[in-house]
Amino acid sequence: MDFMTLIDERRSVRVYERRDVEEEKLSKILHAANRAPSAGNLQAYQIAVVRSAAVRQALARAAVEQQFVGQAPVVLVFFAEPARASAKYGHRGESLYALQDATIACAYAQLAAHDLGLVACWVGAFRSKEVVEVVGAAPGQTPVALLPIGYSAERPEATSRRSLSDLTRRV
Ligand SMILES: Cc1cc2nc3c(=O)[nH]c(=O)nc-3n(C[C@H](O)[C@H](O)[C@H](O)COP(=O)(O)O)c2cc1C
Repeated sequence: MDFMTLIDERRSVRVYERRDVEEEKLSKILHAANRAPSAGNLQAYQIAVVRSAAVRQALARAAVEQQFVGQAPVVLVFFAEPARASAKYGHRGESLYALQDATIACAYAQLAAHDLGLVACWVGAFRSKEVVEVVGAAPGQTPVALLPIGYSAERPEATSRRSLSDLTRRV
């Protein structure tokens, strides 16, 4: 799909078909995440790939009972790894760059999913400690976003945006 069309057509989708996500498409989504820029190319993040129904449902509970998280056939969990960035960038690396690295990777994955005919929804509302326990994250890993991915079973209207004149300022 043309990139600007993809940007305009993407929606946060929260209802999914029961159809699984093919491993080949999942690999492409992970490849897109892996191509995202990162501070000093350190890639201070990790992605947990969750297909297990039991783990997805536990993630849905951790995401303050957002059940659609468990209903998607795949959930990606993006963790910041501050220690990877702090070695080179100190406090700025651990407090900012690692979060940004994980965030950009998630955005790439989200757009790639849509480009492949799939849908996704960024989920930021969750109890971090519970996500860490459910996925068995390593010490120091901080969950930044959940990304449930699947085939769409709804077609939400486009959401509104601020006007560019409000959003931007020419300097
Ligand atoms: C940081 C962040 C956190 C979000 N958290 C949630 C969430 O917990 N649950 C949810 O249903 N959507 C969540 N969303 C999706 C937004 O609600 C959605 O992107 C916004 O309403 C605009 O709609 P659109 O993505 O369809 O354009 C989140 C999005 C972002 C970027």
